[in-house]
Amino acid sequence: MRKGMLITFEGGEGCGKSTHIKLLAKYLRSKMKKVLLTLEPGGTPFGKGLRKILLNDRTVSPLAELLLFAADRAQHVEKIIKPALKKGYIVLCDRYFDSTMAYQINGRKLSAGLVKLLVEISSHDLDPDLTLLLDINVKDGLKRAEVRTKFEKEKLAFHKRVRKGFLEIAAKNKRRVVLIDSTKSISDVQKEIREICKAKIFGKRS
Ligand code: TYD
Repeated sequence: MRKGMLITFEGGEGCGKSTHIKLLAKYLRSKMKKVLLTLEPGGTPFGKGLRKILLNDRTVSPLAELLLFAADRAQHVEKIIKPALKKGYIVLCDRYFDSTMAYQINGRKLSAGLVKLLVEISSHDLDPDLTLLLDINVKDGLKRAEVRTKFEKEKLAFHKRVRKGFLEIAAKNKRRVVLIDSTKSISDVQKEIREICKAKIFGKRS
């Protein structure tokens, strides 16, 4: 039986996920919770190699890219996430399958049926207990993001489609996904995130 909890962070470029996930991990650890902070792509030694290719190699086709994200996730879920959940960890994951849905269906325009099938297979049907979607308009997000990866170099229209994809996911999965306005200050956004997570983990808002 699964004892831990999987909380995923999602959003477009420059939405502040990485900052907030680290702050939340620190906070939960201060509350004596066992926390595993991880990310996709690149949450396993095998995945680190895939991450380098995925973020830099501009020759990779959309289908090959999808298959690499799926391979990264299959390994990550089996070797890292599931064992940690069994041991009772709160697993905080920077990006998970909603990124595949938003980037590969909306961004890359791959077939929704194909992407969904690969998401199901690669995640071993493991759904997050909670997903925090940090939303910011595309222009402001890209201004905040350092341009390092081939994704950040994509056109504005690509990022607009990805944002629309994420917002559709939030609308369709209201029980799992909480939409957070990430244009607010870091401390306000972090406060909101902590309240939501406290309610989920400890069963109350305090
Ligand atoms: P990363 O440096 O982790 O981005 P960020 O700092 O914005 O979180 O790079 C991950 C990139 O990979 C990001 O641009 C989104 C993309 N991605 C997909 O296209 N599909 C996926 O399934 C995942 C997990 C990420």
